[in-house]
Amino acid sequence: MNEDYNFKNNISKHNVLIICLSIHHGNTMKIARVISKKLNADLKKPSEVKKDDLNDYDLIGFASGIYNGKHHADLFKLIKEFEMQKNKKAFIFSTASVKYIKMHTALKKELTAKGFDVIDEFMCRGFMNYSFIKYFFGGINKNRPNKKDLLRAEEFAADIKDKLSI
Ligand SMILES: Cc1cc2nc3c(=O)[nH]c(=O)nc-3n(C[C@H](O)[C@H](O)[C@H](O)COP(=O)(O)O)c2cc1C
Repeated sequence: MNEDYNFKNNISKHNVLIICLSIHHGNTMKIARVISKKLNADLKKPSEVKKDDLNDYDLIGFASGIYNGKHHADLFKLIKEFEMQKNKKAFIFSTASVKYIKMHTALKKELTAKGFDVIDEFMCRGFMNYSFIKYFFGGINKNRPNKKDLLRAEEFAADIKDKLSI
């Protein structure tokens, strides 16, 4: 999975960065790969981002699986370290065992408080076999994200491109 990170698009014209953490099954990384390809975005883990890196980008995507009702704590930690932004555009995505968009609220609040303008968000189901789920069902959402999810993620990125004329 490491080769997915540090993926630097030499042809990037739009200055897009995606900060993604995908620790459970790599589910969110599957989505991140599709979106970063469509947007010619650079893709990094939170631990690889320095607060000044943001100056190089016009649009930042924040993503992870949902763990206990919200995005991964490392994203919140990183955002706290950032300087106040002046309407820097951002978008959010995630995978989770249920598609409940309110689980984005905490991250959206954190970003808005830091001066980000959150322009869009995307969510889909991801395979989960954590805790008792493993013993009773062998996991839920098998093979998710699937082809349809990846297509929807690509459409989401295409919408952003249209919206921002990039
Ligand atoms: C510790 C843990 C907590 C989780 N909590 C939630 C949750 O609160 N709500 C939910 O819908 N899914 C929850 N999930 C399922 C994950 O969000 C889902 O499997 C996601 O696709 C994992 O993404 P990743 O493979 O990119 O890490 C949890 C999974 C783990 C391992």
